[in-house]
Amino acid sequence: MSQQHDKIRAVEWREQCLWLLDQRKLPHVEEWLRLETAAATADAIRDMVVRGAPAIGVSAAFGVVLAARARFAAVGAGWKQALEADLAVLAQSRPTAVNLFWALDRMRGLIATLVDAADPTQALLDEAQRIHDEDIAANRRMGELGAALIDGPCNVLTHCNTGSLATGGYGTALGVIRSAYSQGRIEHVFADETRPWLQGARLTAWELVTDEIPATLLAEGAAATLMKQGKVKWVIVGSDRITANGDVANKIGTYSLAVNARHHGVKFMVVAPTSTVDMALTSGDDIPIEQRPQSEVLSLGGQRIAPEGVNAWNPSFDVTPAELVDAIVTEKGVVLSPTAEKMAQMMSQGD
Ligand code: MRU
Repeated sequence: MSQQHDKIRAVEWREQCLWLLDQRKLPHVEEWLRLETAAATADAIRDMVVRGAPAIGVSAAFGVVLAARARFAAVGAGWKQALEADLAVLAQSRPTAVNLFWALDRMRGLIATLVDAADPTQALLDEAQRIHDEDIAANRRMGELGAALIDGPCNVLTHCNTGSLATGGYGTALGVIRSAYSQGRIEHVFADETRPWLQGARLTAWELVTDEIPATLLAEGAAATLMKQGKVKWVIVGSDRITANGDVANKIGTYSLAVNARHHGVKFMVVAPTSTVDMALTSGDDIPIEQRPQSEVLSLGGQRIAPEGVNAWNPSFDVTPAELVDAIVTEKGVVLSPTAEKMAQMMSQGD
């Protein structure tokens, strides 16, 4: 792995366990958690120890390994049936990022080929590691494809965290930013702080500082003014689920950026591996949107900021219609001004 602008990893398999860099504590505390069960993995996903669509998928795949090992040790040949409960627990951890279900389906596909009588641990571990490695390779490829769209040098705006922390490594939107910065196409990155969980302020800013890419934070309410002043040429974001027509679910606030980008003549790029594309859903209206606890809006850093008696509305994601998207970048290729036909054609590449 080239170390240039790419020093961070947040998901690891070592000492026969899953290790996650606790993203709730970054940037001030770098603490790794050792996970030994599928239930602990599901809790870690739900509680945002690990977050970001591809990183959730990779972690869940390792969670299946932990579960299968324990089930085989407990019941031997009955492990496949016993594992169903663990797959269900993992599937219930978060609803919007389709990479979770994609990874569980892929593990299920391998499980179907394994014999009941043999220990499945090594075969499943190999598959989870392949999922992890393929995600990093996809990010590298998307980095190249996305960077080629940027006619720089220019400044860009990004939202949430889509980097090494949110993926197997390197990142989706942040991977494009890393590649484009290396090539001199990007000079400076503006990052939305991303209320309420502050993935931008805590995680993206940390990744950019660690990898020595010049960055400025802003409250997302300042993004329209940034665009009006002509300070950015592209908005570059990731996704949690892209439907067959090119609609894009991503962190709450993304839709607002897309509307503002179109109004100000700023280009809007979505970067996501094909494991984020859900061809079974015809449009973004069908995407389940996670509602997170009110406390994430009513409090900050564990301290209540709103008065008692007020409620909060906390959808974690929104849907940007395809017509506001200029480019979807996947490892299989770039879709400009996405439509159902173009998405289907891109997805069939390499089949
Ligand atoms: O709630 P999160 O932090 O899991 O949300 C993450 C995002 O919305 C990212 O933009 C998305 O998962 C793409 S990350 C490569």
